[in-house]
Amino acid sequence: MTITETTIAVPALQAAELYERLLHDPTLFILDVRNPDDFRRWRVEGRAGLESLNIPYYEFLEDEDGAIARLPRGREVLVVCAKEGSSQYIAELLQQRGNKAAYLQGGIMSWGNYYHVRPIVTTADGQLVQVARPARGDVSFVIISAGQATIIDPLRHTSHYLEIVREAGATLTAIFDTHVHADHISGGPALAQATGAPYYVHAYDAIHPIDMLPARIAYTTLEDGQVFRIGQLTLTALWFPGHTLGQMNFRLTAPDGASYLFTGDGIFLRSFGRPDLGGKGETWTPLLYESIYQRLPRYVDDTTLILPAHFSDLDEGGADGRFAMPYSALLQTNDGLAPRTLAQFTTYVLGNLPVFPPQYVEIKRVNIGLATPDEAQADELELGKNICALSH
Ligand SMILES: [Fe+2]
Repeated sequence: MTITETTIAVPALQAAELYERLLHDPTLFILDVRNPDDFRRWRVEGRAGLESLNIPYYEFLEDEDGAIARLPRGREVLVVCAKEGSSQYIAELLQQRGNKAAYLQGGIMSWGNYYHVRPIVTTADGQLVQVARPARGDVSFVIISAGQATIIDPLRHTSHYLEIVREAGATLTAIFDTHVHADHISGGPALAQATGAPYYVHAYDAIHPIDMLPARIAYTTLEDGQVFRIGQLTLTALWFPGHTLGQMNFRLTAPDGASYLFTGDGIFLRSFGRPDLGGKGETWTPLLYESIYQRLPRYVDDTTLILPAHFSDLDEGGADGRFAMPYSALLQTNDGLAPRTLAQFTTYVLGNLPVFPPQYVEIKRVNIGLATPDEAQADELELGKNICALSH
């Protein structure tokens, strides 16, 4: 049987609907029909307890009954493949055999490129918008106030940011990367080119840590303590070395006294950024120690809302997909921030480093203009979820 011979229409789920289901539907069951190697490398992940099963497409062709028998009875199955063709076919086959099934429109590639935009805070002084790419665990932010906008850690697909800024009727005045990222391609340089707004990064991150070659992109260097105005709001750049040498946190303060800290890969909600992605894990670990235990407490208070650039799983966010937590709550839940001596911290860090994805060296090259991948190469480099946090 071929796809064209099937006649039963099955529901197609879009990436946005998949995200809603991942956040809210504990009954979701995913059948991934790609090759086991692709499944191992990257799959749809959700909250703890999400059930998924990998039965490659060809196993249904070889032994249809055997493959179907492995699926839960009487439960809807969402079929996922690379681009959509084989998942649609398998979903139709399951429907014909009396199983409830749907397929993911555009396949896992559409999930990988799905962006979710939601406001985090809206007050009379301005708005803070979270722009997440949930399949990768990437989070970025747009700050808007009194007709001005800035972006922090923009991801590769820049149209989302331009649309938010345009819809707000604002002018983009600055683009910041907390650091030169290793896991994803920054949208910062492209946004700067498209809008004329300056792109800021710390000078230490403008040298590739492994190649030791300087950046070939246009950038403006950030200084520790540098202050920017965004309408009614104040943004202060604060050096937080460790994950990279030039990692910066940004503290946003509003006239009502509220404060927010964009931590990039400095600290996450359940962990912090690994110090080894520049190939200098042992040397940079003491810097990270100083940043977490000495620098950070100087510029946060209990109510400061911590807003990191990554999450490792959806459970780090709230029910509404908001990846933010007050500092006081973070101290209770983030084991990475528990009191430790430098020696204990070093053992903790070096004993919990996940695998080093080889493409991270190349992504850093791309982010400072030492390499220019085409769209397909960029997709390939960014495949899968970030591995920027310490294991936990
Ligand atoms: Fe990073």
